[in-house]
Amino acid sequence: VSSVGLIGWRGMVGSVLVRRMLDEGDFAHINPVFFSTSNAGGPAPTFDGVEAEETSLQDAYDIETLKKLPIIVTAQGGDYTKAVYPRLREAGWDGIWIDAASTLRMEASSIITLDPINRDVIDAGLAAGVKEFVGGNCTVSCMLMGLGGLFKQNLVEWGTAMTYQAASGGGAKHMRELLNQFGDLHSAVGTELADPASAILDIDHKVLQTQREGLDAAQFGVPLAGSLIPWIDADLGNGVAKEEWKAGVETNKILGRGENLAPGVDRRGDAVPFDSLCVRVGALRSHSQALTLKLREDIPVSEIEDIVAGGTDWAQVVPNEKEATMERLTPVAATGSLDIPVGRIRKLEMGPEYISAFTVGDQLLWGAAEPLRRMLLIAVG
Ligand code: HSE
Repeated sequence: VSSVGLIGWRGMVGSVLVRRMLDEGDFAHINPVFFSTSNAGGPAPTFDGVEAEETSLQDAYDIETLKKLPIIVTAQGGDYTKAVYPRLREAGWDGIWIDAASTLRMEASSIITLDPINRDVIDAGLAAGVKEFVGGNCTVSCMLMGLGGLFKQNLVEWGTAMTYQAASGGGAKHMRELLNQFGDLHSAVGTELADPASAILDIDHKVLQTQREGLDAAQFGVPLAGSLIPWIDADLGNGVAKEEWKAGVETNKILGRGENLAPGVDRRGDAVPFDSLCVRVGALRSHSQALTLKLREDIPVSEIEDIVAGGTDWAQVVPNEKEATMERLTPVAATGSLDIPVGRIRKLEMGPEYISAFTVGDQLLWGAAEPLRRMLLIAVG
């Protein structure tokens, strides 16, 4: 049984990761060593049925302690990775590093891990000695878990994703801020709302005033409740948001296409042009995206649906009908489930190779925790 260092297990992604590991009995295959960046020496967490040899929390900045572990899994975030990972390698550590943060994702030494889509890429990398496995961007991983079938069969000539990303992508504080904003907006007009005779335009005006003057938007920078923010992550200075850049480069790296591939990974062909426009909306936990894909061939919709449904065990085709869409293709429906619904599949006016699709995924499951726990199982054999 391999000893596995767990860092960042208390945060939002880390908590979902540990919950999933408990649900799937993963702890039976590892000896967990819990680390802390702030409370080293404190008691390690206890979970039913989990036996940890170390009953106290280890210091997550102590290279000598980290160095003893053959595998380290971190959901501590990018700053931690930046601070610790290079020092650990410099100290001669040659274990497997499994990371949720984006820091190392596009390094030529790393593989973006999403095994239902790229198990072949992962295996080729492992055989060649790759020791850096990074979870993909949430939107990218959820998109591929839904539409991967079309990409795996090399049917996509190019694609775009218009995203509708949930507050959770920003973090726990962002989720709280959104909910507080909803509450504050309601409070501002609660009396008027309770009176069916009140004028809706007066309510609208008061809400707008509150949004402009009276909402705490410390996390997002501007109000999100009752609004949206069409920019996610850093401004790359060329009109592109970092989240949008990630969509293209990460999709291709996962598929083994384009550049930046890890040692041992055969290049599966040129990059598929994939671009997006990323928008933060007032959903809580699941990311949605509307796709336009140009296929390489004119394929009947029923066949496209079969390819999508067969792409991964979790892709669920939702019939392109109003009732099914409203019931099954929303953040409310998708949250908490590993299933990735894919609907609104139809041909577009532009021509028989052009299709639309809409997909939703719990960004803390396939978008963050699930690829990591699965990579850990692959790593421990
Ligand atoms: N960058 C994503 C977001 C987080 O802000 O929604 C998931 O990788």
